[in-house]
Amino acid sequence: MEGDFYLRYLDPRFPLLQKLREKALGTYFHSHLVAEMGYSIARVMENTDPLLVYFGGLYHDIGKIAVPEAFAENQDTISNTDFDAEAILSHVEKGYLLAKSFHFPKPLCNIIRSHHGTSVAPNPNKEIKVRYTGKKPSTREETIVFLTDSIEAAVRSERNQKLTPSDFRRIVDEVIRAKRIDRQLSLSPFQEADYLFLQEDFVHILDRMHHSRPEWSRDIRKQ
Ligand SMILES: [Fe+2]
Ligand SMILES: [Fe+2]
Repeated sequence: MEGDFYLRYLDPRFPLLQKLREKALGTYFHSHLVAEMGYSIARVMENTDPLLVYFGGLYHDIGKIAVPEAFAENQDTISNTDFDAEAILSHVEKGYLLAKSFHFPKPLCNIIRSHHGTSVAPNPNKEIKVRYTGKKPSTREETIVFLTDSIEAAVRSERNQKLTPSDFRRIVDEVIRAKRIDRQLSLSPFQEADYLFLQEDFVHILDRMHHSRPEWSRDIRKQ
């Protein structure tokens, strides 16, 4: 990707990012986390383009601006009954078409299209099982965004927010194992060594992201 591309599309005033921030603030922050986590991982992996992963993270959920309120991260209270299957499933294709209409590079459009693969969409009503109809990740960059997205969401959905490194290890292992069992990574070029590396790195990054600080007294806050 060209230098100008980075400057233009990283600018928070760029219309698509601006719209995402204004209409779907929860998704906006989630996207930045996926971008930062994915970038941190990609930059230390061989044969991987970290900036492509960063952009993929930033724009992967751009299709949510069509119906932002259908997604938990943009709701004031989490409802266990509302599940707008059409809005949820279609954010992948909508995002892909939007990216294409802005002439995003093809590898970036493909990250958007593959970020859920054909996984089952999370639904509070376990009896209704619907799958995304995107493509399965088939490049190193697509694989990283795909896994980072699921791991970020899984950590976020943990009730206990005082998580320890062993909690992060459990969550990361569960997500990767479940995706592999579901054959979502059947087209990925990742080898066993890549997954092992990824698991360690995810645990380290999550631990840093959720670092604790000494409790601040009111006096310190006022200073
Ligand atoms: Fe998504
Ligand atoms: Fe996402």
